[in-house]
Amino acid sequence: MQKQKPTPQSPSPSSGGTLMKTFDEGVMMFIDLAQESIVMFGIGLSQLVRLLVRFHVFSLTALYAIYVFTRIVIKDSWHLELLYKSAPTVFTPEKLDWFLQFSLNQHHFAFLLMILFIVCVSLGFKLRYVRTKFIKIFITAGLTNGKGDTPKLVGRNKLDKFRVQYDFDANGVGLSEFKDKQERIEAQFGMEVESIKMGKNPGRALITFNKRKFPETVSYQDVSEEKVLAPDSFYVGHSVEGVVTQKISDLPHMLVAGTTGSGKSVFFKQCLVGLLESTKHLQLYIIDLKGGLEAIDFKDAPNVKIVKTMQEAVMLLRQVEKEMKDRFKFLENNALKTIVPGRDKKDRIVVAVDEASVLYMERSRYDDDFKIALEARKLADSISKLSRAASIHLLLATQKLDRTVIPVSVSENISGRMAFRANSLQGSLVVLGSKDAAELPKTPGRGIWNVGNQKMIVQAPFISDEEIKRRCKRIANEFEANERFLFNDMIDELDHSESEESKEVLKGLMNKGFSDETKKQDRDKTE
Ligand SMILES: Nc1ncnc2c1ncn2[C@@H]1O[C@H](COP(=O)(O)OP(=O)(O)O)[C@@H](O)[C@H]1O
Ligand SMILES: [Mg+2]
Repeated sequence: MQKQKPTPQSPSPSSGGTLMKTFDEGVMMFIDLAQESIVMFGIGLSQLVRLLVRFHVFSLTALYAIYVFTRIVIKDSWHLELLYKSAPTVFTPEKLDWFLQFSLNQHHFAFLLMILFIVCVSLGFKLRYVRTKFIKIFITAGLTNGKGDTPKLVGRNKLDKFRVQYDFDANGVGLSEFKDKQERIEAQFGMEVESIKMGKNPGRALITFNKRKFPETVSYQDVSEEKVLAPDSFYVGHSVEGVVTQKISDLPHMLVAGTTGSGKSVFFKQCLVGLLESTKHLQLYIIDLKGGLEAIDFKDAPNVKIVKTMQEAVMLLRQVEKEMKDRFKFLENNALKTIVPGRDKKDRIVVAVDEASVLYMERSRYDDDFKIALEARKLADSISKLSRAASIHLLLATQKLDRTVIPVSVSENISGRMAFRANSLQGSLVVLGSKDAAELPKTPGRGIWNVGNQKMIVQAPFISDEEIKRRCKRIANEFEANERFLFNDMIDELDHSESEESKEVLKGLMNKGFSDETKKQDRDKTE
Protein backbone atom coordinates (compact mmCIF):
# COMPACT_ATOMS: atom_id res chain seq x y z
CA MET A 1 0.00 0.00 0.00
CA GLN A 2 1.25 3.37 -0.87
CA LYS A 3 1.77 5.73 1.92
CA GLN A 4 -0.32 8.80 1.70
CA LYS A 5 1.63 11.99 1.62
CA PRO A 6 0.62 14.03 4.59
CA THR A 7 -1.00 17.20 3.52
CA PRO A 8 0.60 20.18 5.14
CA GLN A 9 -1.70 21.49 7.80
CA SER A 10 -2.77 24.94 6.92
CA PRO A 11 -3.14 27.24 9.87
CA SER A 12 -6.71 27.43 10.94
CA PRO A 13 -8.37 30.42 9.46
CA SER A 14 -10.36 31.12 12.55
CA SER A 15 -8.52 32.33 15.62
CA GLY A 16 -11.42 30.94 17.70
CA GLY A 17 -10.42 27.40 16.65
CA THR A 18 -6.83 27.98 17.73
CA LEU A 19 -8.02 29.28 21.03
CA MET A 20 -10.19 26.17 21.54
CA LYS A 21 -7.25 23.98 20.71
CA THR A 22 -4.98 25.77 23.15
CA PHE A 23 -7.72 25.54 25.74
CA ASP A 24 -8.15 21.80 25.10
CA GLU A 25 -4.42 21.28 25.34
CA GLY A 26 -4.36 23.25 28.53
CA VAL A 27 -7.13 21.12 30.03
CA MET A 28 -5.40 17.91 28.94
CA MET A 29 -2.15 19.13 30.44
CA PHE A 30 -3.93 19.98 33.64
CA ILE A 31 -5.55 16.55 33.79
CA ASP A 32 -2.19 14.92 33.09
CA LEU A 33 -0.55 16.95 35.80
CA ALA A 34 -3.35 16.18 38.27
CA GLN A 35 -3.16 12.48 37.46
CA GLU A 36 0.60 12.52 37.80
CA SER A 37 0.40 14.36 41.12
CA ILE A 38 -2.12 11.87 42.49
CA VAL A 39 0.11 8.97 41.46
CA MET A 40 3.15 10.69 42.95
CA PHE A 41 1.13 11.45 46.08
CA GLY A 42 0.35 7.73 46.42
CA ILE A 43 3.96 6.67 45.93
CA GLY A 44 5.19 9.42 48.23
CA LEU A 45 2.66 8.52 50.90
CA SER A 46 3.80 4.90 51.03
CA GLN A 47 7.40 6.12 51.23
CA LEU A 48 6.45 8.53 54.02
CA VAL A 49 4.68 5.83 56.00
CA ARG A 50 7.78 3.66 55.70
CA LEU A 51 9.99 6.49 56.94
CA LEU A 52 7.60 7.21 59.82
CA VAL A 53 7.68 3.59 60.92
CA ARG A 54 11.44 3.32 60.56
CA PHE A 55 12.28 6.48 62.45
CA HIS A 56 9.21 6.47 64.67
CA VAL A 57 10.70 8.31 67.63
CA PHE A 58 12.08 11.10 65.50
CA SER A 59 8.92 11.17 63.38
CA LEU A 60 6.57 11.48 66.35
CA THR A 61 8.62 14.36 67.73
CA ALA A 62 8.72 16.07 64.33
CA LEU A 63 4.97 15.58 63.80
CA TYR A 64 4.20 17.09 67.17
CA ALA A 65 6.49 20.04 66.47
CA ILE A 66 4.78 20.60 63.08
CA TYR A 67 1.38 20.41 64.73
CA VAL A 68 2.25 22.99 67.36
CA PHE A 69 3.98 25.32 64.94
CA THR A 70 1.20 25.28 62.34
CA ARG A 71 -1.36 25.83 65.08
CA ILE A 72 0.41 29.03 66.09
CA VAL A 73 0.66 30.15 62.47
CA ILE A 74 -3.04 29.59 61.87
CA LYS A 75 -4.15 31.06 65.18
CA ASP A 76 -2.46 34.37 64.41
CA SER A 77 -3.74 34.30 60.81
CA TRP A 78 -0.19 34.43 59.49
CA HIS A 79 -1.24 32.28 56.56
CA LEU A 80 -3.87 34.78 55.42
CA GLU A 81 -1.43 37.61 55.92
CA LEU A 82 1.10 35.78 53.80
CA LEU A 83 -1.44 35.24 51.03
CA TYR A 84 -2.37 38.89 51.05
CA LYS A 85 1.23 40.05 50.97
CA SER A 86 2.23 37.66 48.21
CA ALA A 87 -0.58 38.67 45.84
CA PRO A 88 -2.66 41.59 47.12
CA THR A 89 -4.58 41.89 43.85
CA VAL A 90 -5.65 38.25 43.87
CA PHE A 91 -6.16 37.76 47.57
CA THR A 92 -8.03 40.92 48.31
CA PRO A 93 -9.28 41.49 51.88
CA GLU A 94 -12.82 40.71 50.65
CA LYS A 95 -11.77 37.34 49.33
CA LEU A 96 -9.79 36.57 52.44
CA ASP A 97 -12.85 37.34 54.48
CA TRP A 98 -14.42 34.29 52.92
CA PHE A 99 -11.86 32.08 54.70
CA LEU A 100 -12.88 33.42 58.07
CA GLN A 101 -16.21 31.58 58.00
CA PHE A 102 -14.28 28.38 58.78
CA SER A 103 -13.28 27.43 62.28
CA LEU A 104 -9.73 27.38 63.54
CA ASN A 105 -9.71 23.58 63.51
CA GLN A 106 -10.90 23.45 59.92
CA HIS A 107 -8.14 25.86 58.90
CA HIS A 108 -5.59 23.81 60.71
CA PHE A 109 -6.78 20.55 59.21
CA ALA A 110 -6.72 21.95 55.67
CA PHE A 111 -3.29 23.42 56.29
CA LEU A 112 -1.92 20.09 57.51
CA LEU A 113 -3.46 18.29 54.54
CA MET A 114 -1.77 20.72 52.22
CA ILE A 115 1.60 20.12 53.86
CA LEU A 116 1.05 16.37 53.64
CA PHE A 117 0.19 16.66 49.96
CA ILE A 118 3.27 18.74 49.16
CA VAL A 119 5.59 16.44 51.12
CA CYS A 120 4.17 13.28 49.55
CA VAL A 121 4.21 14.61 46.01
CA SER A 122 7.84 15.77 46.45
CA LEU A 123 8.81 12.37 47.84
CA GLY A 124 7.02 10.68 44.96
CA PHE A 125 8.78 12.81 42.37
CA LYS A 126 12.10 12.18 44.05
CA LEU A 127 11.53 8.44 43.97
CA ARG A 128 10.51 8.64 40.35
CA TYR A 129 13.63 10.64 39.55
CA VAL A 130 15.80 7.95 41.16
CA ARG A 131 13.79 5.26 39.37
CA THR A 132 14.31 6.93 35.99
CA LYS A 133 17.98 7.31 36.75
CA PHE A 134 18.18 3.57 37.44
CA ILE A 135 16.30 2.73 34.27
CA LYS A 136 18.76 4.79 32.25
CA ILE A 137 21.69 3.18 34.00
CA PHE A 138 20.35 -0.32 33.42
CA ILE A 139 19.68 0.39 29.77
CA THR A 140 23.23 1.72 29.35
CA ALA A 141 24.60 -1.31 31.17
CA GLY A 142 22.56 -3.58 28.90
CA LEU A 143 20.59 -5.03 31.78
CA THR A 144 17.17 -5.69 30.29
CA ASN A 145 14.79 -8.60 30.00
CA GLY A 146 13.66 -10.14 26.71
CA LYS A 147 11.15 -7.33 26.16
CA GLY A 148 13.67 -4.58 26.73
CA ASP A 149 12.35 -3.66 30.20
CA THR A 150 14.78 -2.93 32.97
CA PRO A 151 14.62 -3.93 36.64
CA LYS A 152 12.54 -1.50 38.68
CA LEU A 153 13.50 0.16 41.90
CA VAL A 154 11.20 -0.83 44.74
CA GLY A 155 12.96 0.48 47.81
CA ARG A 156 16.09 1.96 49.22
CA ASN A 157 17.57 1.12 52.58
CA LYS A 158 20.49 2.92 54.18
CA LEU A 159 22.47 0.25 56.02
CA ASP A 160 25.04 2.49 57.63
CA LYS A 161 27.08 5.61 57.01
CA PHE A 162 28.57 4.18 53.86
CA ARG A 163 26.32 1.43 52.61
CA VAL A 164 23.04 1.71 50.75
CA GLN A 165 20.96 -1.25 49.69
CA TYR A 166 18.60 -0.97 46.73
CA ASP A 167 15.73 -3.38 46.36
CA PHE A 168 14.77 -4.09 42.74
CA ASP A 169 11.94 -5.91 41.12
CA ALA A 170 14.23 -7.88 38.78
CA ASN A 171 11.59 -7.83 36.06
CA GLY A 172 12.77 -11.16 34.67
CA VAL A 173 16.47 -10.25 34.71
CA GLY A 174 18.49 -13.07 36.29
CA LEU A 175 20.79 -12.57 39.25
CA SER A 176 23.72 -13.88 37.22
CA GLU A 177 23.09 -11.13 34.66
CA PHE A 178 23.33 -8.53 37.41
CA LYS A 179 26.61 -10.08 38.49
CA ASP A 180 27.95 -10.16 34.92
CA LYS A 181 27.25 -6.46 34.59
CA GLN A 182 28.60 -5.59 38.02
CA GLU A 183 31.56 -3.61 36.73
CA ARG A 184 29.39 -1.54 34.43
CA ILE A 185 26.90 -0.88 37.20
CA GLU A 186 29.80 0.24 39.41
CA ALA A 187 31.12 2.51 36.69
CA GLN A 188 27.68 4.05 36.18
CA PHE A 189 27.10 4.66 39.87
CA GLY A 190 30.65 5.57 40.71
CA MET A 191 30.34 3.32 43.76
CA GLU A 192 31.56 -0.10 44.56
CA VAL A 193 28.99 -2.89 44.56
CA GLU A 194 29.46 -4.81 47.76
CA SER A 195 26.97 -7.55 47.04
CA ILE A 196 24.26 -8.67 44.67
CA LYS A 197 21.83 -11.18 46.04
CA MET A 198 18.26 -12.41 45.92
CA GLY A 199 15.72 -10.57 47.97
CA LYS A 200 13.35 -12.19 50.41
CA ASN A 201 10.44 -11.94 48.00
CA PRO A 202 10.59 -13.87 44.74
CA GLY A 203 11.77 -11.90 41.72
CA ARG A 204 13.59 -9.36 43.84
CA ALA A 205 17.28 -8.45 43.64
CA LEU A 206 19.16 -6.64 46.38
CA ILE A 207 22.21 -4.60 45.40
CA THR A 208 24.36 -3.16 48.16
CA PHE A 209 26.59 -0.25 47.25
CA ASN A 210 29.49 0.87 49.35
CA LYS A 211 30.66 4.45 49.16
CA ARG A 212 33.87 3.60 50.88
CA LYS A 213 36.72 3.66 48.47
CA PHE A 214 38.92 0.79 49.38
CA PRO A 215 42.34 0.64 47.84
CA GLU A 216 42.65 -2.58 45.83
CA THR A 217 45.99 -3.18 47.50
CA VAL A 218 47.84 -1.80 50.48
CA SER A 219 51.43 -2.74 51.05
CA TYR A 220 53.08 -3.53 54.34
CA GLN A 221 55.38 -0.62 53.63
CA ASP A 222 52.37 1.73 53.27
CA VAL A 223 50.74 0.72 56.54
CA SER A 224 54.01 0.77 58.44
CA GLU A 225 54.66 4.30 57.21
CA GLU A 226 51.15 5.38 58.18
CA LYS A 227 51.19 3.88 61.65
CA VAL A 228 53.96 2.60 63.87
CA LEU A 229 53.19 -0.68 65.59
CA ALA A 230 52.74 -0.60 69.35
CA PRO A 231 54.66 -3.30 71.23
CA ASP A 232 53.38 -6.88 70.79
CA SER A 233 51.13 -5.92 67.87
CA PHE A 234 50.53 -6.66 64.22
CA TYR A 235 48.75 -4.95 61.34
CA VAL A 236 45.23 -6.09 60.55
CA GLY A 237 44.74 -3.91 57.50
CA HIS A 238 43.43 -0.67 56.16
CA SER A 239 39.85 0.14 57.08
CA VAL A 240 37.90 3.23 56.04
CA GLU A 241 39.08 4.91 59.17
CA GLY A 242 42.74 4.14 58.64
CA VAL A 243 45.26 1.50 59.62
CA VAL A 244 44.00 -1.07 62.10
CA THR A 245 46.44 -2.84 64.41
CA GLN A 246 45.93 -5.47 67.07
CA LYS A 247 47.77 -6.20 70.28
CA ILE A 248 48.25 -9.95 70.49
CA SER A 249 47.92 -10.15 74.27
CA ASP A 250 44.37 -8.82 73.94
CA LEU A 251 43.31 -11.68 71.69
CA PRO A 252 45.09 -14.08 72.68
CA HIS A 253 44.43 -16.44 69.74
CA MET A 254 43.47 -15.79 66.14
CA LEU A 255 41.72 -17.65 63.37
CA VAL A 256 42.19 -16.74 59.71
CA ALA A 257 39.73 -18.26 57.29
CA GLY A 258 38.82 -17.91 53.64
CA THR A 259 38.67 -19.72 50.35
CA THR A 260 41.83 -20.57 48.37
CA GLY A 261 43.48 -17.49 46.95
CA SER A 262 41.63 -15.09 49.23
CA GLY A 263 44.86 -13.98 50.91
CA LYS A 264 45.17 -16.05 54.09
CA SER A 265 48.83 -16.94 53.74
CA VAL A 266 49.87 -13.41 52.79
CA PHE A 267 47.92 -12.03 55.76
CA PHE A 268 49.49 -14.61 58.02
CA LYS A 269 52.98 -13.74 56.87
CA GLN A 270 52.51 -10.03 57.39
CA CYS A 271 51.07 -10.69 60.87
CA LEU A 272 54.16 -12.69 61.74
CA VAL A 273 56.48 -9.99 60.39
CA GLY A 274 54.60 -7.41 62.44
CA LEU A 275 54.84 -9.51 65.58
CA LEU A 276 58.54 -10.18 65.00
CA GLU A 277 59.22 -6.50 64.57
CA SER A 278 57.12 -5.22 67.44
CA THR A 279 57.71 -7.87 70.10
CA LYS A 280 60.95 -7.61 71.98
CA HIS A 281 61.11 -11.12 73.32
CA LEU A 282 59.29 -13.42 70.96
CA GLN A 283 59.64 -17.05 70.05
CA LEU A 284 57.83 -17.78 66.83
CA TYR A 285 56.99 -21.31 65.72
CA ILE A 286 55.58 -21.77 62.28
CA ILE A 287 53.81 -25.01 61.45
CA ASP A 288 53.45 -25.16 57.71
CA LEU A 289 52.24 -28.59 56.71
CA LYS A 290 51.31 -27.76 53.14
CA GLY A 291 54.06 -25.34 52.24
CA GLY A 292 51.47 -22.63 51.63
CA LEU A 293 53.32 -20.05 53.63
CA GLU A 294 56.76 -20.35 52.07
CA ALA A 295 57.93 -20.12 55.67
CA ILE A 296 61.46 -20.36 54.36
CA ASP A 297 61.49 -16.57 53.99
CA PHE A 298 61.55 -16.33 57.79
CA LYS A 299 64.53 -18.61 58.25
CA ASP A 300 67.04 -15.82 58.86
CA ALA A 301 65.37 -14.64 62.05
CA PRO A 302 67.00 -16.59 64.88
CA ASN A 303 63.81 -16.56 66.96
CA VAL A 304 61.78 -18.39 64.32
CA LYS A 305 61.48 -22.16 64.01
CA ILE A 306 59.74 -23.75 61.08
CA VAL A 307 58.10 -27.15 61.30
CA LYS A 308 56.95 -28.97 58.21
CA THR A 309 55.80 -32.43 59.19
CA MET A 310 53.00 -33.75 61.30
CA GLN A 311 55.42 -35.54 63.64
CA GLU A 312 57.46 -32.42 64.26
CA ALA A 313 54.30 -30.43 64.74
CA VAL A 314 52.99 -32.75 67.42
CA MET A 315 56.32 -32.74 69.19
CA LEU A 316 56.39 -29.00 69.11
CA LEU A 317 52.86 -28.71 70.45
CA ARG A 318 53.77 -31.10 73.26
CA GLN A 319 56.71 -28.95 74.24
CA VAL A 320 54.54 -25.87 74.09
CA GLU A 321 52.00 -27.54 76.32
CA LYS A 322 54.76 -28.50 78.73
CA GLU A 323 56.04 -24.94 78.73
CA MET A 324 52.52 -23.73 79.36
CA LYS A 325 52.19 -25.98 82.39
CA ASP A 326 55.58 -24.83 83.67
CA ARG A 327 54.45 -21.26 83.34
CA PHE A 328 51.30 -22.01 85.30
CA LYS A 329 53.43 -23.47 88.07
CA PHE A 330 55.56 -20.35 87.95
CA LEU A 331 52.46 -18.17 88.23
CA GLU A 332 51.15 -20.22 91.11
CA ASN A 333 54.45 -20.18 93.00
CA ASN A 334 54.76 -16.44 92.61
CA ALA A 335 51.11 -15.69 93.25
CA LEU A 336 50.80 -14.03 89.85
CA LYS A 337 47.91 -13.97 87.41
CA THR A 338 49.49 -13.58 84.00
CA ILE A 339 52.92 -13.89 82.53
CA VAL A 340 54.35 -10.49 81.67
CA PRO A 341 57.33 -11.31 79.46
CA GLY A 342 59.52 -8.37 80.51
CA ARG A 343 58.83 -8.76 84.23
CA ASP A 344 58.87 -12.54 84.42
CA LYS A 345 61.80 -13.02 82.04
CA LYS A 346 59.78 -15.31 79.82
CA ASP A 347 59.46 -14.93 76.08
CA ARG A 348 56.12 -14.49 74.41
CA ILE A 349 55.42 -17.63 72.38
CA VAL A 350 53.47 -17.61 69.14
CA VAL A 351 52.55 -20.82 67.37
CA ALA A 352 51.35 -20.12 63.85
CA VAL A 353 49.68 -22.87 61.87
CA ASP A 354 48.92 -22.23 58.20
CA GLU A 355 46.53 -24.74 56.63
CA ALA A 356 45.53 -25.78 60.13
CA SER A 357 42.90 -28.13 58.76
CA VAL A 358 45.68 -30.58 57.88
CA LEU A 359 46.65 -30.67 61.52
CA TYR A 360 43.14 -30.98 62.85
CA MET A 361 41.39 -32.96 60.20
CA GLU A 362 39.56 -35.95 61.61
CA ARG A 363 41.07 -39.06 60.17
CA SER A 364 39.87 -42.57 59.88
CA ARG A 365 41.32 -44.90 62.51
CA TYR A 366 43.16 -46.71 59.80
CA ASP A 367 45.02 -43.65 58.53
CA ASP A 368 48.74 -43.70 59.21
CA ASP A 369 48.66 -40.46 61.15
CA PHE A 370 45.44 -41.11 63.02
CA LYS A 371 47.10 -41.14 66.45
CA ILE A 372 49.23 -38.16 65.73
CA ALA A 373 46.29 -36.13 64.50
CA LEU A 374 44.34 -37.10 67.55
CA GLU A 375 47.13 -35.96 69.79
CA ALA A 376 47.56 -32.74 67.84
CA ARG A 377 43.90 -31.94 68.36
CA LYS A 378 44.13 -32.58 72.06
CA LEU A 379 47.23 -30.47 72.42
CA ALA A 380 45.86 -27.54 70.48
CA ASP A 381 42.70 -27.86 72.49
CA SER A 382 44.48 -27.65 75.80
CA ILE A 383 46.77 -24.83 74.62
CA SER A 384 43.90 -22.75 73.30
CA LYS A 385 41.91 -23.21 76.48
CA LEU A 386 44.59 -22.47 79.00
CA SER A 387 47.34 -20.41 77.47
CA ARG A 388 45.67 -17.02 77.90
CA ALA A 389 47.58 -16.38 81.11
CA ALA A 390 50.82 -17.89 79.87
CA SER A 391 51.60 -15.45 77.02
CA ILE A 392 51.32 -18.28 74.54
CA HIS A 393 49.31 -17.62 71.40
CA LEU A 394 47.88 -19.75 68.65
CA LEU A 395 47.37 -18.32 65.17
CA LEU A 396 45.46 -20.62 62.87
CA ALA A 397 44.74 -20.22 59.18
CA THR A 398 42.43 -22.56 57.38
CA GLN A 399 40.52 -22.85 54.18
CA LYS A 400 38.14 -25.54 55.31
CA LEU A 401 36.07 -24.67 58.27
CA ASP A 402 33.54 -26.79 59.97
CA ARG A 403 33.28 -28.55 63.27
CA THR A 404 35.33 -31.49 62.04
CA VAL A 405 38.22 -29.23 61.06
CA ILE A 406 38.55 -26.86 63.97
CA PRO A 407 37.04 -28.31 67.13
CA VAL A 408 34.40 -26.12 68.75
CA SER A 409 36.45 -26.11 71.93
CA VAL A 410 39.31 -24.45 70.03
CA SER A 411 37.24 -22.01 68.04
CA GLU A 412 35.36 -20.96 71.17
CA ASN A 413 38.61 -19.77 72.67
CA ILE A 414 39.57 -17.68 69.68
CA SER A 415 38.38 -14.12 69.94
CA GLY A 416 40.19 -12.65 66.93
CA ARG A 417 38.88 -13.72 63.54
CA MET A 418 39.94 -12.62 60.12
CA ALA A 419 37.43 -13.78 57.55
CA PHE A 420 38.47 -13.49 53.94
CA ARG A 421 36.03 -14.40 51.19
CA ALA A 422 34.10 -17.57 51.94
CA ASN A 423 32.71 -19.53 49.05
CA SER A 424 29.71 -20.71 50.99
CA LEU A 425 27.21 -19.20 53.34
CA GLN A 426 27.93 -22.00 55.77
CA GLY A 427 31.65 -21.16 55.80
CA SER A 428 30.93 -17.55 56.59
CA LEU A 429 28.48 -18.50 59.33
CA VAL A 430 31.04 -20.70 61.05
CA VAL A 431 33.71 -17.99 61.17
CA LEU A 432 31.66 -14.87 61.73
CA GLY A 433 28.20 -16.01 62.72
CA SER A 434 26.91 -13.99 59.78
CA LYS A 435 26.89 -14.24 55.99
CA ASP A 436 29.14 -11.21 55.46
CA ALA A 437 32.24 -13.17 54.41
CA ALA A 438 30.30 -14.88 51.62
CA GLU A 439 29.46 -11.47 50.21
CA LEU A 440 32.98 -10.06 50.06
CA PRO A 441 34.34 -9.12 46.64
CA LYS A 442 36.93 -11.31 44.97
CA THR A 443 39.76 -8.87 45.75
CA PRO A 444 42.51 -10.83 47.50
CA GLY A 445 43.26 -9.47 50.94
CA ARG A 446 39.75 -8.01 51.42
CA GLY A 447 38.42 -9.37 54.67
CA ILE A 448 36.29 -8.84 57.72
CA TRP A 449 38.11 -8.41 60.98
CA ASN A 450 36.11 -9.52 63.95
CA VAL A 451 37.32 -9.06 67.47
CA GLY A 452 34.88 -9.34 70.34
CA ASN A 453 31.64 -7.99 68.96
CA GLN A 454 33.30 -5.50 66.66
CA LYS A 455 33.40 -6.20 62.91
CA MET A 456 35.03 -4.15 60.18
CA ILE A 457 36.00 -4.51 56.56
CA VAL A 458 39.70 -4.18 55.91
CA GLN A 459 42.18 -4.52 53.08
CA ALA A 460 45.03 -6.62 54.46
CA PRO A 461 48.57 -5.41 53.83
CA PHE A 462 50.44 -7.17 51.06
CA ILE A 463 53.99 -8.24 51.77
CA SER A 464 56.38 -9.71 49.24
CA ASP A 465 58.74 -12.57 50.00
CA GLU A 466 61.73 -10.27 49.48
CA GLU A 467 60.31 -7.83 51.99
CA ILE A 468 59.95 -10.62 54.56
CA LYS A 469 63.52 -11.74 53.97
CA ARG A 470 64.79 -8.18 54.26
CA ARG A 471 62.93 -7.56 57.51
CA CYS A 472 63.96 -10.92 58.99
CA LYS A 473 67.61 -10.15 58.15
CA ARG A 474 67.27 -6.89 59.99
CA ILE A 475 65.94 -8.75 63.02
CA ALA A 476 68.87 -11.19 62.78
CA ASN A 477 71.24 -8.21 62.80
CA GLU A 478 69.56 -6.82 65.88
CA PHE A 479 70.08 -10.14 67.65
CA GLU A 480 73.71 -10.18 66.57
CA ALA A 481 74.25 -6.66 67.82
CA ASN A 482 72.64 -7.66 71.13
CA GLU A 483 69.92 -5.10 70.59
CA ARG A 484 67.52 -7.96 71.03
CA PHE A 485 67.68 -11.16 73.00
CA LEU A 486 65.50 -14.00 74.21
CA PHE A 487 65.04 -14.81 77.89
CA ASN A 488 64.75 -18.52 77.21
CA ASP A 489 66.08 -20.98 74.68
CA MET A 490 63.96 -21.77 71.70
CA ILE A 491 61.87 -24.84 72.44
CA ASP A 492 63.53 -27.06 69.90
CA GLU A 493 66.94 -26.37 71.37
CA LEU A 494 65.89 -26.99 74.95
CA ASP A 495 66.96 -30.52 75.25
CA HIS A 496 67.30 -32.74 72.30
CA SER A 497 67.14 -35.94 74.32
CA GLU A 498 63.70 -34.93 75.41
CA SER A 499 62.56 -34.73 71.86
CA GLU A 500 64.10 -38.16 71.26
CA GLU A 501 62.14 -39.38 74.24
CA SER A 502 59.02 -37.87 72.74
CA LYS A 503 59.71 -39.75 69.57
CA GLU A 504 59.75 -42.98 71.55
CA VAL A 505 56.51 -42.11 73.27
CA LEU A 506 55.00 -41.33 69.96
CA LYS A 507 56.18 -44.56 68.44
CA GLY A 508 54.67 -46.48 71.32
CA LEU A 509 51.46 -44.62 70.93
CA MET A 510 51.29 -45.37 67.26
CA ASN A 511 51.82 -49.06 67.81
CA LYS A 512 48.98 -49.32 70.26
CA GLY A 513 45.33 -49.54 69.30
CA PHE A 514 42.79 -46.82 69.90
CA SER A 515 41.11 -48.63 72.79
CA ASP A 516 44.49 -48.98 74.49
CA GLU A 517 44.91 -45.30 74.29
CA THR A 518 41.57 -44.57 75.84
CA LYS A 519 42.37 -47.08 78.60
CA LYS A 520 45.65 -45.27 79.14
CA GLN A 521 43.78 -42.01 79.39
CA ASP A 522 41.37 -43.46 81.88
CA ARG A 523 44.33 -44.76 83.85
CA ASP A 524 45.93 -41.33 83.74
CA LYS A 525 42.73 -39.77 84.94
CA THR A 526 42.37 -42.09 87.93
CA GLU A 527 46.01 -41.64 88.88
N1 LIG B 1 46.61 -8.40 50.90
C1 LIG B 1 46.77 -8.67 49.61
N2 LIG B 1 46.83 -7.67 48.72
C2 LIG B 1 46.99 -7.93 47.41
N3 LIG B 1 47.10 -9.15 46.89
C3 LIG B 1 47.06 -10.19 47.71
C4 LIG B 1 46.88 -10.00 49.12
N4 LIG B 1 46.84 -11.21 49.69
C5 LIG B 1 46.99 -12.11 48.71
N5 LIG B 1 47.13 -11.51 47.51
C6 LIG B 1 47.30 -12.17 46.21
O1 LIG B 1 46.55 -13.36 46.19
C7 LIG B 1 47.38 -14.49 46.03
C8 LIG B 1 46.91 -15.62 46.92
O2 LIG B 1 47.11 -15.28 48.25
P1 LIG B 1 47.35 -16.37 49.39
O3 LIG B 1 47.62 -15.62 50.63
O4 LIG B 1 48.36 -17.35 48.97
O5 LIG B 1 45.92 -17.04 49.43
P2 LIG B 1 45.42 -18.25 50.32
O6 LIG B 1 46.48 -18.57 51.32
O7 LIG B 1 44.16 -17.77 50.93
O8 LIG B 1 45.16 -19.35 49.37
C9 LIG B 1 48.78 -13.98 46.37
O9 LIG B 1 49.75 -14.65 45.64
C10 LIG B 1 48.74 -12.55 46.01
O10 LIG B 1 49.07 -12.36 44.66
MG1 LIG C 1 47.51 -20.34 51.73
